[in-house]
Amino acid sequence: MITIIGAGRVGSSAAFDILRYKISDVVLIDTNEKLAMGEALDMMQAAPAIEFDGTIRGTGDFREMAGSELVIVTAGFARKPEMTRIELMNTNAQIVRSVVREVTKYAPKAKLMLVTNPVDVMTYISFKETGFPRSRLFGMGNILDAMRFRTYIASELGVSREDTRALVMGEHGDSMVPLVEYASVSGVPITKLLSPQQIEHIVQRTVTSGADVIKLKGSTEFAPGAVIAVTADAILTGRNRVMSVSTCLDGEYGQSCVSIGVPVVIGKDGVDKIIELDLSPKTKALFENSVAKVKEAIAALQA
Ligand code: 2OP
Repeated sequence: MITIIGAGRVGSSAAFDILRYKISDVVLIDTNEKLAMGEALDMMQAAPAIEFDGTIRGTGDFREMAGSELVIVTAGFARKPEMTRIELMNTNAQIVRSVVREVTKYAPKAKLMLVTNPVDVMTYISFKETGFPRSRLFGMGNILDAMRFRTYIASELGVSREDTRALVMGEHGDSMVPLVEYASVSGVPITKLLSPQQIEHIVQRTVTSGADVIKLKGSTEFAPGAVIAVTADAILTGRNRVMSVSTCLDGEYGQSCVSIGVPVVIGKDGVDKIIELDLSPKTKALFENSVAKVKEAIAALQA
């Protein structure tokens, strides 16, 4: 069973994808119980059309997460246009701290996926708050960035999105680092297929992609929802997928006391292994800049 805490746009969209792709039953928890119940009822009424047999229960009661294999936290305020992820930090930190305390009470053995922004900071404070091992606690941000990177590689080349492969590391925010040197189309490096100018354009579009949606419709929902479902599937099926998640570093990439996106193997037990890539000097400098940004935010929050 999967619990999603937060029945806003991202949480509800994730819940629906988890049901329609037959990944798991879902408990959807929100302090606005009517909202959680309404979303659940609406989704169940779609089941015969989409043909899924899974169930969803909407509730305001945190005890209902008991027995969950995975708890996903989307609770918090969404980023407004012109607002950076960091500016959201103080309000969302309070919400996330109180929510993860409930997780330690009712689902102490679950894997915990943070989605609330700024996700790297929220992952770090949740690690401190819960005392969960880092393998069982991570943030979902860079997987979404990588999907956006792949979307733009495919459209620039006019090829199937399915054949694109890419990773992004660093902050899920303005300092993210799309890994150009490791992006490919069916194994062909994008540097062989696109000019440096085209690649720069794609990288810029990737960095601003979340903000571009927010400017138009106020918040993102379908892309994060789908990516949460894909990540949940990697865990529940134990498929050991290679993706970037925000994880608390302990010497890897020369960093510690920070949670930030790096490539990992993710499966049944959560983050199984951190992959330490050989980075070009330019990419390494960009990653270090990104680490500095997240560490600054953590320090500002602690102050
Ligand atoms: C996104 O990138 C806002 O973090 C959210 O869609």
